[in-house]
Amino acid sequence: MRLQGRVAVVTGAASGIGRAIARRYAAEGASVVVSDVRSEPIYDGTSGRPTAEEIVESGGVAVYQQCDVSRTDQVEALMQRAVDEYGRIDILVNNAGLVQSSTILGTSEDDWDRLMGVNLRGQFLCCKAALSRMVEQEPIGEVRGRIINVASQHGMVGPPEFFAYAVSKGGMVQMTRQLAVDYGRLGVLVNGIAPGRIVTGTHPGEIDMSDPVLEYSRSRTPFHRLGRPEDIAGAALFLGSDDCSYISGHNLLVDGGWMAY
Ligand SMILES: NC(=O)c1ccc[n+]([C@@H]2O[C@H](COP(=O)([O-])OP(=O)(O)OC[C@H]3O[C@@H](n4cnc5c(N)ncnc54)[C@H](O)[C@@H]3O)[C@@H](O)[C@H]2O)c1
Repeated sequence: MRLQGRVAVVTGAASGIGRAIARRYAAEGASVVVSDVRSEPIYDGTSGRPTAEEIVESGGVAVYQQCDVSRTDQVEALMQRAVDEYGRIDILVNNAGLVQSSTILGTSEDDWDRLMGVNLRGQFLCCKAALSRMVEQEPIGEVRGRIINVASQHGMVGPPEFFAYAVSKGGMVQMTRQLAVDYGRLGVLVNGIAPGRIVTGTHPGEIDMSDPVLEYSRSRTPFHRLGRPEDIAGAALFLGSDDCSYISGHNLLVDGGWMAY
């Protein structure tokens, strides 16, 4: 129970990585505000039930709050729901994200705005709304709040033909550093997670292991398998817990060693 008594907001938590983080946080004792534009998971190898319902049914504490992270009014309502429901926000996990594969010449202005609207503007809005509350709340020990941004290894290198996605994730990586610098003295720890290739619903058909793209990802990864949402949840647990006491501005690669060469 490493998060006993803590309150967490997780965006994009209906599916995939966000769902795994919300479930793990609840299992470790946190009260979780599960947030997403949708309540049903896109793809899930477990029950397929909405995340908050599943958590409550298994004895945990969670509520669902619908929120499009690109919308200021909905983000405000999300953070206020956490405070109204549980009294504070100890951990914000910015996980909601879109992916798109294209070069710059194949990227329309609408594509760019859509990607940036969710991945970068969404993170900006959520960080701002949560931070404004975190800095006002009493610290637990030395820490007033924690922010964890789920970026990507593709925010650190330029993968072929993921133009807008990689640029948005690069911005997220830098936002993590900037907020760590600006809010550390107020007791807020800000870190990022940079996943490698994780099997979720983001990439349709990805779970077909005969897919050559998927097989390439597996064979390119030094550790002998693709990532699972639970691998990211483990990292998010560490960064959200008291064990992470003096790390801030860090982007933690969780990629089975992909970026090691
Ligand atoms: N799966 C991977 O290989 C991988 C690798 C690196 C980084 N990531 C990042 O991890 C995060 C989660 O990815 P995933 O693979 O679990 O994806 P996913 O598609 O399985 O889940 C993403 C969730 O975000 C939600 N969402 C989309 N737009 C939203 C919006 N505007 N507001 C709120 N919620 C919204 C979706 O409804 C969905 O439930 C994303 O930020 C993604 O870029 C994933």
